[in-house]
Amino acid sequence: MLSGTFTPPGDKSITHRAALLGLLAEGETRVTAGNPGEDCGRTWAAASELGAPWRDEPQGRVIRGTGLRVTAPAAAIDCGNSGTTMRLLSGIVCAHEFTTELYGDASLTRRPMARILEPLTRMGARIESGDGQRPPLKIHGGGLRGIHYDIPVASAQVATCVLLAGLAAKGETSVRLPGAARDHTERMLPAFGVPLEVTPLPGGGREVRLQGGVLPRATSLIVPGDFSGAAFFLAAAAATPGASVTAAGVNLNPTRTGLLDVLLAMGASVRVNHPRQEAGEPVGDVTVEGPDQLRAFDVPSEWVPRLIDEAPAWVLLATAARGVSRLTGATELRVKESDRIALLARNLVACGVTVREAPDGIEVTGGPVHGAAIEAALDHRIVMAFAALGARCDEPMGFDDVSSVYTSYPNFFSTLQSLGAEVIAGAA
Ligand code: S3P
Repeated sequence: MLSGTFTPPGDKSITHRAALLGLLAEGETRVTAGNPGEDCGRTWAAASELGAPWRDEPQGRVIRGTGLRVTAPAAAIDCGNSGTTMRLLSGIVCAHEFTTELYGDASLTRRPMARILEPLTRMGARIESGDGQRPPLKIHGGGLRGIHYDIPVASAQVATCVLLAGLAAKGETSVRLPGAARDHTERMLPAFGVPLEVTPLPGGGREVRLQGGVLPRATSLIVPGDFSGAAFFLAAAAATPGASVTAAGVNLNPTRTGLLDVLLAMGASVRVNHPRQEAGEPVGDVTVEGPDQLRAFDVPSEWVPRLIDEAPAWVLLATAARGVSRLTGATELRVKESDRIALLARNLVACGVTVREAPDGIEVTGGPVHGAAIEAALDHRIVMAFAALGARCDEPMGFDDVSSVYTSYPNFFSTLQSLGAEVIAGAA
């Protein structure tokens, strides 16, 4: 049975943004407790390619910013597995009078980029892309003008991309998000001295407005723990009667914690101790305890943006609940590091679970789960979900490849082991 306390790695979304705003700012920015995974490593490497050198000190990474004078990279930039790196960087480089090439691994090369190409092109960038407006991208930047953009999906990556482009564009830029996507960018920009206007919209969305040409000023920030990484252990505790697991120092930004609402609705106990603020974000120590029996629950579709990265962790709950649980309105899951709806469904079926796949979601009937050979498709969250599910099975869960956990959570398997799961040699 899983039990104990762990500290998740620094939040991946916040670390990407801190590195990129550090690149744009005037002066030296210190980022403490940033995410140590490969995805953020790609962003840090790109920042230094674009003219902002950084060094590691005992209190964190210090980056010397360019003061909005980003320089042309010497070579094409490898974004690896990281969609956030590619989409956010595109917003930065498209504002400068040079050409940047961005490419990624097989998973990233399948991901849609039309969602950023459209607004960036409207702002004045010229962008060449691969088949179906997918990577690689060749961005000819410069001469941007601000736009007002209604984002068709509740994507924080798209909003951030456009806002970063807007920083160096002429005039005002605004974006309207149709749902409650994560708001780390809006929390962080004022810390770098960039004023914003944020207006809530009916239905949980918001409009964000900024003026171009404001020079970001360097700052220091401590990155809170990553809720999306912690979610696997918290969900595993909820799914195990009598288990108790605490995630210390985890980010509790309400645009990220939809899974805690689902845990409560399904009958788990959730307690937050030591609430505090770090980097403009709410943080706390979260303890989840598993009840004798979880109740099945249909996740309301308007909650989906607040748990978009936790859907793989949700299957831990759905498989342990009495009855049928459903996730709907989640088409975005099909364009993450893998088609997560299809992959969750296939792997759950391999584990003996009754599943119905829908175009926009998945329906899971709770019941026994057995170990199986899991297809991971370069998707870290698929590996972490089924590894945590394996902690509940008598037979081992096997994986074609677990190296993707290094993209976001290099210590994932040692944490799983420290909480009491058996990890068989050969795993990462
Ligand atoms: C992220 C936003 C989300 C999330 C991704 C990180 C970010 O994507 O799935 O892992 O840091 O802005 P979308 O904004 O496209 O939903």
